[in-house]
Amino acid sequence: MTANAEINESPLGPTESVTPSQSSQSSQSSQSSHVGERLDVSRETPASPHDGRESIEPGPQPDVSRGTESDAAPQLVDGEGPRESGDLADLDDDSTPLATAIALDVRRRSTLVGAPLPRPAATRVLTVANQKGGVGKTTSAVNIAAALAQSGMRVLVIDLDPQGNASTALGVDHRSGIDSIYDVVVDGVPMSSVVVESPSVTGLFCAPSTIDLAGAEIELVSLVAREGRLAKALEAHLADTAYDYVFIDCPPSLGLLTVNAFVAAREVFIPIQCEYYALEGLSQLLRNVELIKTHLNPRLEVSTILLTMFDGRTRLSAQVAEEVRAHFPAQTLRTTIPRSVRVSEAPSFGETVMTYDPLSSGALAYLEAASQIAHRDAGSTTEGADS
Ligand SMILES: Nc1ncnc2c1ncn2[C@@H]1O[C@H](COP(=O)(O)OP(=O)(O)OP(=O)(O)O)[C@@H](O)[C@H]1O
Ligand SMILES: [Mg+2]
Repeated sequence: MTANAEINESPLGPTESVTPSQSSQSSQSSQSSHVGERLDVSRETPASPHDGRESIEPGPQPDVSRGTESDAAPQLVDGEGPRESGDLADLDDDSTPLATAIALDVRRRSTLVGAPLPRPAATRVLTVANQKGGVGKTTSAVNIAAALAQSGMRVLVIDLDPQGNASTALGVDHRSGIDSIYDVVVDGVPMSSVVVESPSVTGLFCAPSTIDLAGAEIELVSLVAREGRLAKALEAHLADTAYDYVFIDCPPSLGLLTVNAFVAAREVFIPIQCEYYALEGLSQLLRNVELIKTHLNPRLEVSTILLTMFDGRTRLSAQVAEEVRAHFPAQTLRTTIPRSVRVSEAPSFGETVMTYDPLSSGALAYLEAASQIAHRDAGSTTEGADS
């Protein structure tokens, strides 16, 4: 889908009012108001004596996997409840909000874990981008990639950020000087010579980044076909190596590295943090996507938006989520990613949360998001992976 954004006046400064090109989306957009007009940063009075969280449909959802985990569970929206299962009928305990939440969480896990995902007919290449820093680009890229690989897909993560965070999370060496994506983009080294498999997940591969990439933005300026170097390298790699998904983790900028990622991809995946100023800068990002589409990569589309670091205790998170959904009803995944201690500590062990704590609320949310991404391509997929 294509979306065009325009900046509107708001008490909070610029926010975006986006008019998706489809008419059905337009009607929904026109009903929405701006984030800035409705934000309320005040903390809610705890609605539940159990956990002090605001009561947001379908109610407080404590993580039942670990006694120590205090993360807010992922929020479900209407109609997204787990499928009924005869085996799980006895979990239908709605005697208290807590029991309801636990039953819901257990049933979501039961329906998701081990469920087969449709395999795309052709490799799907997604660029994970947002020039705003720290919104969950890397965390979303590696965890969704890991979730898909655990479901039997072959997945490549291209770390295009000099910080090398995706390489760290995948347990892949990214010390300065090793063969990395820098050599691919700047020196034309074949991608196959830098790709390594993540030690923690079979079928999950990484083209690591090193700090050398920090100079690439400048070095690229004088190179031939500077915007298409990653695309060319990836195309050559895909010709002899099969993947179901490729995720390109971008740095927090709209420089030449991100442009290379846009040219190499078919889809743009935008993580949006459920925080103040979440939408600021989004219109610039969408404008850049449109420019790339016009001049360099006509097939590029914003296909996926994921709400990250959702905190069910604040009205702010719910309002940001509501606003994003109003602007991007088709692109925004139903699942939101909760703020989760497990998610944030996993990289320090060189792992994604999918292996570090697969039963945590964060892992469940990322598995659910991966499943939704896989099913979104239904038109061009075949039932495949079943492990
Ligand atoms: N769901 C979450 N719960 C808690 N912490 C999170 C969550 N998602 C991300 N974080 C933490 O927030 C920080 C920023 O996340 P991340 O590195 O994924 O963002 P980014 O957009 O890739 O950042 P950058 O722009 O620097 O590349 C990290 O410390 C990460 O561990
Ligand atoms: Mg990052």
